[in-house]
Amino acid sequence: MNQQEHLATFIKAFSESLQDNSFVKISLGNYKGTEEQLKNIYIKRVLIKKDEKLSFTYRYKTRDIVKNFSLSEGINAVENALQEGFNIATLFTNKFDLIIEKLNQKTVLRKTDSSNPKAISLEHDKAKNRLIKPQEKPYLHELKITDEAGNVYKNAQDKYRQINHYVEILSTLIKDIPTQNHLKVADMGSGKGYLTFALYDYLTNVLKLEAAVTGVEFRPDMVALCNNIAQNTGFSTLNFVEGTIEDYDSTGTNILIALHACDTATDDAIYKGITANADLIVVAPCCHKQIRREIEKHKASNELDFLTKYGIFLERQAEMVTDGIRAMILEYFGYKTKVFQFISDAHTPKNVLVVGIKSPNAGSKREEILAKLKATKEYFGIEYHHLERLFKL
Ligand SMILES: C[S@@+](CC[C@H](N)C(=O)[O-])C[C@H]1O[C@@H](n2cnc3c(N)ncnc32)[C@H](O)[C@@H]1O
Repeated sequence: MNQQEHLATFIKAFSESLQDNSFVKISLGNYKGTEEQLKNIYIKRVLIKKDEKLSFTYRYKTRDIVKNFSLSEGINAVENALQEGFNIATLFTNKFDLIIEKLNQKTVLRKTDSSNPKAISLEHDKAKNRLIKPQEKPYLHELKITDEAGNVYKNAQDKYRQINHYVEILSTLIKDIPTQNHLKVADMGSGKGYLTFALYDYLTNVLKLEAAVTGVEFRPDMVALCNNIAQNTGFSTLNFVEGTIEDYDSTGTNILIALHACDTATDDAIYKGITANADLIVVAPCCHKQIRREIEKHKASNELDFLTKYGIFLERQAEMVTDGIRAMILEYFGYKTKVFQFISDAHTPKNVLVVGIKSPNAGSKREEILAKLKATKEYFGIEYHHLERLFKL
């Protein structure tokens, strides 16, 4: 097959995957075209006001631009992108993955097993029975998720769904904790406060619990913005404090969450949760730089080099080792743990949730855990894990 035939096969497979609903996403990379700072394009399918669209995220060095196209425009746009500078594209479907790559003057096409066999292929905004309804929620308007009438803005559909998804997950976890009133909740690294507000709303207005919720954030602009919105919307026991996770006094906290707190900030958050003897600790880790650096220092010097010499493997090893050790340390301190993917990786690769639920029966295997921790560190050439160091284990 020549270059044009390979391209035609790829485009045909793309088009067919849209027709039979097996399409998951497309990513384009290795850009060598003329548009300055353009690096990748990521494409997913969305349903906007009942219209199926292809949503293209153009990733530049320092910003992202999102454009939505009709299906036929989107197919043409992918074809053009492959002729105008992108040298690799992967079509992910839930039947197979198809990669087209230009190497020197040749084009190769590779078909592999699907990496998303169960992925939901369609993003949609169908009116589900959401825990956080958009109407009559002034805070959602102030956070620019809805207009004044409670209609979710087109560009905030993803965020709105995400908020509800988090709250749904938390709602099932919260059912299992012993403290059911006078809850003290801390959201570490609360950022713009989307989830902090939604969780407060859910606890106090849906479950009708008494809850004091605090967002901890070191960016003063975010703290001021969130406190303003909390005040304007009458959320009297929701507040945001300016400061670091490390310095926050978490005494008495029942529920501690930290979503995408960078690198070791997640460890600081878990530490605050464990030392407060919180009933529930939920973290969505972000990057795993500390352990990545540790593994990298030793990667060429042992027989594991084949697992760490490629950037993507190193990244994944660092993630699994970091979060695996976090889960072990939670168990060491008497928490039952769960680790699961909470959102499709079509959205973000930062999609793992580490959950610790205080349990009277957990924590009996301390010696075993310490031995495993020691062996893991030796195996990967790790000098220390930040959470382990905080506890001086
Ligand atoms: C990626 S954002 C996530 C925000 C929010 N949790 C969410 O999921 O939408 C991480 C936030 O944590 C804050 N942060 C990171 N490290 C922190 C630390 N050590 N102390 C306080 N805030 C921190 C950052 O300023 C940022 O706003």
